[in-house]
Amino acid sequence: MSPRRVYLETFGCQMNELDSELVTSQLRALGYAFTREPGEAGVVLYNTCSVREHAEQKVWSRLGELALRKQQEPGLVVGVLGCMAEREGPALLKRMPVVDVMVGPGELDKLPALLDNAVKTKASLLDGAGDRERAAGGSAGQVALQGNTSRRSATLAAAADTLELLDLSRAVDPEGHSGSAYVRITRGCNKFCTYCVVPFTRGAEVHRPPEHILDECKRLADAGVREVTLLGQTVNHYRFEHGSAVSVNGVVQPQKGRVYKHAPGVFEDPYRGQSVTTFADLLHRIHEEVPAIQRLRFVTSFPRSFGDDVLGVIRQSPRICRYLHVPAQSGSDRLLQLMNRGYTVGEYFEFLDRARAFLHQPEIGRPLTVAGDIIVGFPTETQEDHEATADLIRRARYKNCFIFKYSPRPGTIAIDRFEDDVPEEVKRRRNNELLALQNEVSASVCAEFVGQTMDVFVQGVSKKHAKKAKRHAQSGAVALTIAGRTPGAPEDEPGAGAACSADGSHVHEDAPAAGTPQLSARTEGDVIVFFDCPPGSSPDDLVGTIRRVRITASGPLALFGALV
Ligand code: 5AD
Ligand code: SF4
Repeated sequence: MSPRRVYLETFGCQMNELDSELVTSQLRALGYAFTREPGEAGVVLYNTCSVREHAEQKVWSRLGELALRKQQEPGLVVGVLGCMAEREGPALLKRMPVVDVMVGPGELDKLPALLDNAVKTKASLLDGAGDRERAAGGSAGQVALQGNTSRRSATLAAAADTLELLDLSRAVDPEGHSGSAYVRITRGCNKFCTYCVVPFTRGAEVHRPPEHILDECKRLADAGVREVTLLGQTVNHYRFEHGSAVSVNGVVQPQKGRVYKHAPGVFEDPYRGQSVTTFADLLHRIHEEVPAIQRLRFVTSFPRSFGDDVLGVIRQSPRICRYLHVPAQSGSDRLLQLMNRGYTVGEYFEFLDRARAFLHQPEIGRPLTVAGDIIVGFPTETQEDHEATADLIRRARYKNCFIFKYSPRPGTIAIDRFEDDVPEEVKRRRNNELLALQNEVSASVCAEFVGQTMDVFVQGVSKKHAKKAKRHAQSGAVALTIAGRTPGAPEDEPGAGAACSADGSHVHEDAPAAGTPQLSARTEGDVIVFFDCPPGSSPDDLVGTIRRVRITASGPLALFGALV
């Protein structure tokens, strides 16, 4: 075990993956190295998710294991980052004295200093007094930072500005990426859907200044990134008001994320006195000003307030992907109201139909692909509500849909207001029915692709093929490079599947011709395509590039094609 070697495990969403990447680059700058083996690490960090109880339970059990390990290795430093740190607060430290450092998502910029301090303190405790027990746990060295609860107060602007520095500090390593990257455009959420913990853990919605986003995109493009996914909890709500004031809980404050003075690391607002950058403006600017990004997509969209201006920009921009992840959550108007989603099923389809009218053009190889999220077993859900959701899934024709069993979360509105009255076995049955239905829909959506010719972004050698090659290599036959995991890489991501159970488990069919490397790629609509590496080409020439393929066959979870 080396004290400056870090194992970092990330739970939950893409926002967390990005936070982990930023924390990683900051810690690297301080001289820490990273390992995939927790046993080799002197620092173990969990970047946690609180959206469902299941994800939290995993972290509790990991921490329990670490407590045992720490009895043998008192120098071990343990950190809990992200939403669980925010939600649990000091209670987590009490329950798990093994934790040395705890930092909520609103305070992540402070992690490197805190962690470095914890590592040094631990080392000196072990060297000096030899107080192994103190080093091994107890409250002596524990530090906890929560910030998002206070971000709902008048300190919002200041907190947002320091957090902005975390994104700005992003180190882009030309060797350390796989061609794809996330860029945050908005933090937090103001929607307060009754089941959701995010507005409490990630705080109020804060939009990053467009200049910072563009600069980050340019730096990524310069380092060779070709695919950028813009992130926000309600990404299409992006709206940056230049030089104006906003009101949070009645307190008028400067626009979040905007910085005023000249100082190291501080930026002048070039739009001072000018109006607004909307989401449509932002997409247009990135598309026009950073043409090296060949694929620009964004997640997650909220089905309301999605204007024709955005759809128009997507339609006219060849490098903006025709892909929307736009969760409906339920097909029952009654439940949508209890969830505080702010739209009806009719309004949801008004949007989806409008989006398809603008963007679905299979005749030019550019269909619109849509992904969704559904919650089953929300309190009071009846069989009739469930059937309404099944109808929505049939009509929405999602390429894939994440289906989650309702999980009551402490601190949310729903847990106070509604009893979790749908029995577990009913939730499970409804979940399975919707998964099966979505699989049928996905198979039929995929079948429509057959015969089309479309551009695909080549991700790597298909895992199945790579495994085979490895076995061969071990027995002295061919050796092949296995492409590393990319953010949103097809075969590791639950979204790659058709209907995705909450644990993300899925399978795909592929049957490579013996000896020919099979490559995996993604359409602009995020559908996986497998194709054989043509004779005379090596996978290395193709990975990270965009190629044209003709789709020859389909399964429920993937397409098969050939290079044209
Ligand atoms: N229980 C189950 N699913 C939830 N989600 C958010 N909160 C909960 C909860 N309490 C789901 C929603 C959301 C996705 C990120 O997680 O479908 O879109
Ligand atoms: Fe949660 Fe609703 Fe915000 Fe999504 S829009 S993060 S579900 S509160």
